Amino acid sequence: MKVLKASNYDDMSRKVANIISAQVILKPDARLGLATGTTPIGAYKQLINWYEKGDIDFSEVSTYNLDEYRGLGKDDPQSYRYFMDHTFFDHINIDKARTHVPDGTNPDAAAACAAYDKLVKSAGYTDLQLLGIGRNGHIGFNEPSDVFSKGTHCVDLTPSTIEANARLFDKAEDVPRQAYTMGVQTIMHAEMILVAASGADKAEAVRNMIEGPVTPECPASILQLHTNCVVVADDKALSQCTSMASV
Ligand code: GLP
Repeated sequence: MKVLKASNYDDMSRKVANIISAQVILKPDARLGLATGTTPIGAYKQLINWYEKGDIDFSEVSTYNLDEYRGLGKDDPQSYRYFMDHTFFDHINIDKARTHVPDGTNPDAAAACAAYDKLVKSAGYTDLQLLGIGRNGHIGFNEPSDVFSKGTHCVDLTPSTIEANARLFDKAEDVPRQAYTMGVQTIMHAEMILVAASGADKAEAVRNMIEGPVTPECPASILQLHTNCVVVADDKALSQCTSMASV
């Protein structure tokens, strides 16, 4: 695990965007695993800016998002598909048919998850998987548990995640209680994993991810076992780490 220190959110966002940009320049038909949440918004904005300047071309790129709320579809402003379209895809020259998000509108959770897993697997998994991290150490929507998950599956969100995500909804009651998410094993199949973290509220999760034991109680800790994982975190997110060396 390589840890890159950023001075603040903007610096983190530029570094993350630079790494994604390099991936797309090196492999124009790259398969990008993408994430939602507030953390990657700055990186997406930077990538849009470079696209507008003609520095990056997404025409051959395909994308696979980590997760989606169960029950929400593309027209719901709280869905992750809506977020991706409005925050990123609508502003670059990506072929929308090559952008993939689990189908939250399929009420048959087993079928929706199996279909998504098949899709990601048959594509050959991702070249680069971008991840944020939850305050409790979750990745995608893989919540703390006593086992690491495998493929795409339906999860019950924890009270702390519902509370954390309530800021994006009118009321906490509106936050869906379930989501479809890529499993930890699927995430770990990525050639490269790029974790972005910013802010003091992520400091404990970031410390557990980088320095803690590898345990499903902190799902992100498994990334210590990935052979090509880069963490880009700002000062505040790294404030509880005792060692800043690559680990
Ligand atoms: C959500 C998403 C995660 C994301 C996390 C952190 O629960 N499912 O993929 O990493 O929240 O979000 P934020 O970046 O807004 O802190």
